[in-house]
Amino acid sequence: MSHAAPLFQPFTFKGLKLANRIVMAPMTRSFSPGGVPTKQVSEYYRKRAASAVGLIVSEGTVVQRPSAGNDPDVPHFWGDAALAGWQDVINTVHQAGGVMAPQLWHVGAARNPRTTWTAPPPVDSPSGLSRPGKQFGEPMTDAAIADTIAAFAKAAGAAKRLGFDCIELHGAHGYLIDQFFWDGTNTRTDKFGGDLVARGKFAGEILKAVRAEVGPDYPVIIRLSQWKQQDYAARIAQSPDEMAAWLQPLADAGADIFHCSQRRFWEPEFDGSDLNFAGWAKKLTGRPTITVGSVGLSGEFIAAFGGESSKPASLDELLRRFDRGDFDLVAVGRALISDPDWALKVRDGRMDELSNFSPAALAELV
Ligand SMILES: Cc1cc2nc3c(=O)[nH]c(=O)nc-3n(C[C@H](O)[C@H](O)[C@H](O)COP(=O)(O)O)c2cc1C
Repeated sequence: MSHAAPLFQPFTFKGLKLANRIVMAPMTRSFSPGGVPTKQVSEYYRKRAASAVGLIVSEGTVVQRPSAGNDPDVPHFWGDAALAGWQDVINTVHQAGGVMAPQLWHVGAARNPRTTWTAPPPVDSPSGLSRPGKQFGEPMTDAAIADTIAAFAKAAGAAKRLGFDCIELHGAHGYLIDQFFWDGTNTRTDKFGGDLVARGKFAGEILKAVRAEVGPDYPVIIRLSQWKQQDYAARIAQSPDEMAAWLQPLADAGADIFHCSQRRFWEPEFDGSDLNFAGWAKKLTGRPTITVGSVGLSGEFIAAFGGESSKPASLDELLRRFDRGDFDLVAVGRALISDPDWALKVRDGRMDELSNFSPAALAELV
């Protein structure tokens, strides 16, 4: 048995039964031409399901708004063709014994530096800003906000109908939901703007609409981050009190599990404690949490987009925090892109078989 055995205990929550604590982090792969996941996408997820990943969170898959995506090969989570593709994905994952959530996404006004493709208008964002001070599009109208909330709820309903085990809302990394949280991109003066609690109302209304659609027993995860792709040093909550003011209304609105995105999981959230984001979120809300960020790898993922490779790294610090009860689940990103068997190898103590992550792995779906 490997030293990582604690990560291979089962986890149950509502109807969700996970064989272990390893989550495949949501990772955009852009292999779904015209927004439709192919058989190759099903096969990609099947391999991780068959190799001891407890929960797979899909790549971000966009809700039905004209500019929800930032790349034509990112999958949709609407329309007959795309949903048929997702039906095949979830059937294939279930046959392999896996458990899976789609990550429901809207990019808002965030730009994609890796493509010149632009989505049809209108660009949706709280205040027509892609980053502080940088105008892109117009502030969302009340009708656009209502339609977007409904689009998330509809996608959640479709996920449940197709047989997905839970859903995740992408509320992190400077995309639409996070653009509402962040005072740098939300300068609205209506009920969706203002203090931290008001800036959380958009997410809260999405959560309530999703909850109304999927019912009380269906697990809903929300992914959040302090950091933004537009500004790594940005923060929504500057103190534990502010974090409670941010998260508790989301829990009350229907968020069951907080997926706390950091680039390096070991970085403390506030002075005076070594607790990370997932640690604080669990302590403040009592809800289960997922940690993420450079698990098992020496370098972080933004550097990977710049071409940097990473080597396998010790899991000791992760296990110390997990054993202390800081978080319930651990998401792993890049290590699972390059090696579908990463979780299996860790479970079986085959640490010498873990490989480096090279950004070249992003070019293909293996
Ligand atoms: C290629 C790639 C695509 C990603 N796409 C998404 C995404 O669609 N949604 C999301 O929430 N995070 C996305 N991320 C961030 C990962 O989910 C994860 O938080 C990050 O890679 C850190 O984990 P790691 O250090 O184990 O790779 C992406 C990361 C990578 C490397």
